[in-house]
Amino acid sequence: MHTVAVLSLKGGVGKTTVALGLASAALRRGVRTLVVDLDPQCNSTATLEPQETAATLFHVLQSPKPDTVRAAISPSGWGEGVDVLVGAEEVEGLNHPDPSLSKLGRLGRALEVVHEVRTADDEPPYQLVLLDCPPSLGQLTRSALVAADRALLVTEPTMFAVSGVQRAFEAVQSERAEHNPDLQPLGVVVNRVRPRSHEHQFRIDELREIFGPLVMPVALPDRLAVQQAQGACMPIHLWNTPGAREVALAFNLLLARVLRATRRRQRPVYEEPEVEPEPEPQDGVGSPQFMEPHLPS
Ligand SMILES: Nc1ncnc2c1ncn2[C@@H]1O[C@H](COP(=O)(O)OP(=O)(O)OP(=O)(O)O)[C@@H](O)[C@H]1O
Ligand SMILES: [Mg+2]
Repeated sequence: MHTVAVLSLKGGVGKTTVALGLASAALRRGVRTLVVDLDPQCNSTATLEPQETAATLFHVLQSPKPDTVRAAISPSGWGEGVDVLVGAEEVEGLNHPDPSLSKLGRLGRALEVVHEVRTADDEPPYQLVLLDCPPSLGQLTRSALVAADRALLVTEPTMFAVSGVQRAFEAVQSERAEHNPDLQPLGVVVNRVRPRSHEHQFRIDELREIFGPLVMPVALPDRLAVQQAQGACMPIHLWNTPGAREVALAFNLLLARVLRATRRRQRPVYEEPEVEPEPEPQDGVGSPQFMEPHLPS
């Protein structure tokens, strides 16, 4: 199972769009997927149109019991193969700015229970879990970084968004060093690119200077179809316009990259707080995919 946190510490750059686009590509490819809506705005829940559930992520994070987990997951309205762990406004109350280790571990524990429930119910396991994060670095985003094995950073090719991705990358490094040595940055995906914009090209070059090969070769174009498909609560792959097809193709490539990333075993660090943390690798490199970016001081 690949567990991918989709994050950016800047709002409105396309985290939800990327989570939904990957879910759409997964649906097309027959990859069983769970979207976990960690954002109190509940945008991904709204677009995926699950049935009404008796529980939400709020209840799951408070008490990840099997029956609560079952009650909070619904098939999406998109079709078989994409489910939603539904979001709730109330999770804002759980977005503690300085959470304890046990609070940070609750999402990871909940995802373990999801897996146990699927096994107990004789359902095949999810192959992909997408964590749609809110635009802040509180308990919700950090718990996603503790639960995930991959972090996908989203940015727009603008000055403020680039600095947001730097902060997000620092958050990934910090969570990796402190609580989740299995976490790897999957890369930086640049969204809303207009190929003829010199400013966009300048910012993409800047990102490549800072993050090197972590910047995904596939960028997501700025297309009205994205907003239209979301407004109609449809997967982008079913929105039949040239712009939608272009974006859908980019998401196919992005999904292929996500699935190619080697899955590493997750260590439930939050269950064993007294265990000595593993020493950092000598060269600071966790896998061939990981490269220290040249963050400006
Ligand atoms: N590639 C794109 N082309 C056109 N519009 C886009 C694209 N990506 C995102 N948008 C639009 O930009 C807006 C913000 O996108 P989205 O909600 O995905 O961002 P977000 O990072 O999840 O926001 P938040 O921080 O509020 O959670 C939405 O209206 C979305 O439809
Ligand atoms: Mg969002």
